[in-house]
Amino acid sequence: MGIFYKLRVKLIAVISLYVIFPNQSVLAYFVSPLKTKNGMVVSANPLASDAGLEILSKGGNAVDAAVATTFAISVVEPFSAGIGGGGFLLLHQAQTKEIRALDFRERAPLKATKNMYLDANGKVRPNASVDGHLAAATPGTVAGLYEVHRRYGKLSWQEVIKPAITLAKDGFILSPVVTYRSLQAFNSRKKTILSNPAAREIFTRNGEFYQPGEKLVQRDLARTLTLVAQNPENFYTGSIARAIADDMAKNGGLITLQDLKTYKPIWRNPVCGNFVQVNSSTANSSPTKICSMPPPSSGGVHLLQILNIISDINFKSLGWHNPDALHLMVEAMKIAYADRSQYLGDPDFVKVPVAQLISPEYAKLRRQQITMDRAKASSEVKPGDLTPLTPFPLREGEKFNSSVLKSYESTETSHLNVIDAQRNAVSLTFTVNLGFGAGVVAAGTGIVLNNEMDDFAIAPGVPNAFGLVGNEANAIAPRKTPLSSMTPTIVTENGRLRMVVGAPGGSTIITQVLQVILNVLQYNMNVGTAVSAPRIHHQWLPDQLRVDKFALDAMTLAELRRRGHNIKETEPWGNINAILVTPDNTLEGAADPRGEGAARGF
Ligand code: GLY
Repeated sequence: MGIFYKLRVKLIAVISLYVIFPNQSVLAYFVSPLKTKNGMVVSANPLASDAGLEILSKGGNAVDAAVATTFAISVVEPFSAGIGGGGFLLLHQAQTKEIRALDFRERAPLKATKNMYLDANGKVRPNASVDGHLAAATPGTVAGLYEVHRRYGKLSWQEVIKPAITLAKDGFILSPVVTYRSLQAFNSRKKTILSNPAAREIFTRNGEFYQPGEKLVQRDLARTLTLVAQNPENFYTGSIARAIADDMAKNGGLITLQDLKTYKPIWRNPVCGNFVQVNSSTANSSPTKICSMPPPSSGGVHLLQILNIISDINFKSLGWHNPDALHLMVEAMKIAYADRSQYLGDPDFVKVPVAQLISPEYAKLRRQQITMDRAKASSEVKPGDLTPLTPFPLREGEKFNSSVLKSYESTETSHLNVIDAQRNAVSLTFTVNLGFGAGVVAAGTGIVLNNEMDDFAIAPGVPNAFGLVGNEANAIAPRKTPLSSMTPTIVTENGRLRMVVGAPGGSTIITQVLQVILNVLQYNMNVGTAVSAPRIHHQWLPDQLRVDKFALDAMTLAELRRRGHNIKETEPWGNINAILVTPDNTLEGAADPRGEGAARGF
């Protein structure tokens, strides 16, 4: 290969780069996957992936490494996810081939009430479900990690938390990307953070966030993690629980010792479906099964629903980003998010028609409602007619207000995947909800508290921070779990592990995971290309087709506009990562170049 050829390739690569951060010189491009044979960790942060790799190298299994990586993310990306929040994981056990789902999401405090964020006139109190102690739900991360480790871990609990304690105690250098993402979150929550003494002390110097290259040391968090390492019960009944409950009582929050003491993670059956594509040569010869998170996440249900609806088109034969394929995918997204708004909620409180929503028969019915030459306005797309739930429509005169959208972005939430030598696998997404959660730290603990209460439908038809509207199914109740979009997913072929994938990004999580799965299973992309490729997103409300800048060529955009799509080209979003197992049993992992995640393996 000549020098000029190499230079030309580089030049083309540079020209095709697109700017991810408008005011930064951080560029996204198609990443090369890491290929290893034994084990792999991929997470949103290189330091956290290092922590997971360290544990795998010491003989830990996928669960040990996932727990280590999760605790490390809590330290190195406290704005996105942490022990003050909650999450979901899917576990694939190599020996039994069983896939299990663990729900360690936050639960509403016992004192929570349906109308707690409304004023005396029934109007939503601005930001009441977003900022400060009242926005926090009972955290589940520590209980969830302990539960999965207690059952499936190999190394000691103390050993797997150790890397996180070191990162918190000794500090770590803030990279440009982490600083940028922290700053995005910080600037949008500045007022709350500055008015909370603990958050202010940890995350600011003279009232501003740190600069890249500076060291972030979190002594309180190191002490808290050390107590958790000694005994996880310290978080729920011991000194940490008392510190959280005291802080809540002093600042108008609702979480009490009783909430913490009674918190329990819940094992659930994942939702699974076959990946079917008409005329695909592989469709029947090698059944591909997609398993994902069931309610209280909407992720798995709607991922499967969309895949079912679009299954009568062979994407591969149409070609990459063909207008017919895009149109069908967008119309299916609208249907799924409309159903989400009506039927999805905590299954321990409301009957969610999961079987119907993910059934091929229902998908066929919904597919018939799609017109291929015209985009339906969102107002024409209604939730399906399924198990009756008490209707909870928009109030008369109430309109969807897209100006409340604060963020689609991925400063919140974190996803990680791990596969070990035996091919046990963990796909885990966790969060404090928005960047820096509620914007407050429980005094003396170093714990950033979540604002997951905003994921409830705080009033009918009133969009949350991701623009998602909800209904009675997702109304607030004591101990109830707010609806999520987190979509940790595991794909198998003939029972053999094929792929683990997941993403942060609020309402966009489901469509990110969908597109990366299609990129791999339909377009045969390697995992690096699959996570890098430009994406689209529609969530029914607002009626807007969001398109990665430079994702679609002028003719495709024109054709979609001709069909009636209201297109908005925006900066790229999301921060997905995935690991594939190739037919020769090689692990192939990559993290989204939109973030600074990293794959590590051996
Ligand atoms: N907090 C975002 C989600 O769970 O979907």
